[in-house]
Amino acid sequence: MSILGIDRITYGVDDLATCRRFFLDWGLHLVREAPEVLEFETLNGCEVHVRHTDDPALPVAIESGPTLREVVWGVERAEDLTRLSAALGSAAGDVLRTTDPNGLGIAFRVSRKRAVQVQGVPVNAWGQPGRGVNQRSTFYERAEPVEVGHVVLFTDRLADAERFYVETLGFCVSDRYPGRGVFLRCAAEGGHHDLFLLQPPGVKRGLNHVAFVVRDIHEVFGGGLHISRCGWETEMGPGRHPISSAYFWYVKNPAGGLAEYYTDEDQLDGAWQPREFQQGPDVFAEWAVVGGIDGTTRRAKRM
Ligand SMILES: [Fe+2]
Repeated sequence: MSILGIDRITYGVDDLATCRRFFLDWGLHLVREAPEVLEFETLNGCEVHVRHTDDPALPVAIESGPTLREVVWGVERAEDLTRLSAALGSAAGDVLRTTDPNGLGIAFRVSRKRAVQVQGVPVNAWGQPGRGVNQRSTFYERAEPVEVGHVVLFTDRLADAERFYVETLGFCVSDRYPGRGVFLRCAAEGGHHDLFLLQPPGVKRGLNHVAFVVRDIHEVFGGGLHISRCGWETEMGPGRHPISSAYFWYVKNPAGGLAEYYTDEDQLDGAWQPREFQQGPDVFAEWAVVGGIDGTTRRAKRM
């Protein structure tokens, strides 16, 4: 189907001014501002829109309060929209809109993201001095996310949702918590997951988090330290996920759920065989710091 990834996310929020401050501190670029909407972009043009919860332009919410209201997936060509339109039984236009089995508004359009020349800092691993001789590493003052990499949703219809994303939209299963969760990527070749659906016992539908890709581990640390210094509260981070190998830092987001900085996830292709895990703290994180670390300790100040 040639779905390339997330092209836009839209939040419905209670307090636009607070969300404006959060996303600027987070490292997004504010490209348009009107009384009813804030339009941010990541480095590659992935869009983050923010509207009031009661804005009639928003799709129906899957939970009360501030939350994610729509995910727009980017496709490669107009023909992909025609194929998706036939698969979904919806009318095709420039934007194809529907809802997933969870009730979340989803849409498809030809991707408007740009190719960008940004690179993480190579690591001098043992036997592989990737950065080279006489090359210092980078210290980031703050993060500047490259794109929205994945969203994580609570669902009470896990099996239906997996069937929809795999059979109707052509997503691939990367790994599973049998009966509890599924990691999905929108194409065989790509990062470990673009969507993670989670169904813990007694769950209510809702947003868990939206994850923003940054260049390298140093930017996860630099971004997390900056957002902490700005006064935003860390849920958990830094840390590392065993399942995708990614480094992460989760922060409480006034627009709903958590926002995550992450980097260095495993890259998969069609040869990957999905694995099964039993959910537990050791599977979620190899290590993690609850509440974050700060950049204002005496040791950091002396630097
Ligand atoms: Fe994540």
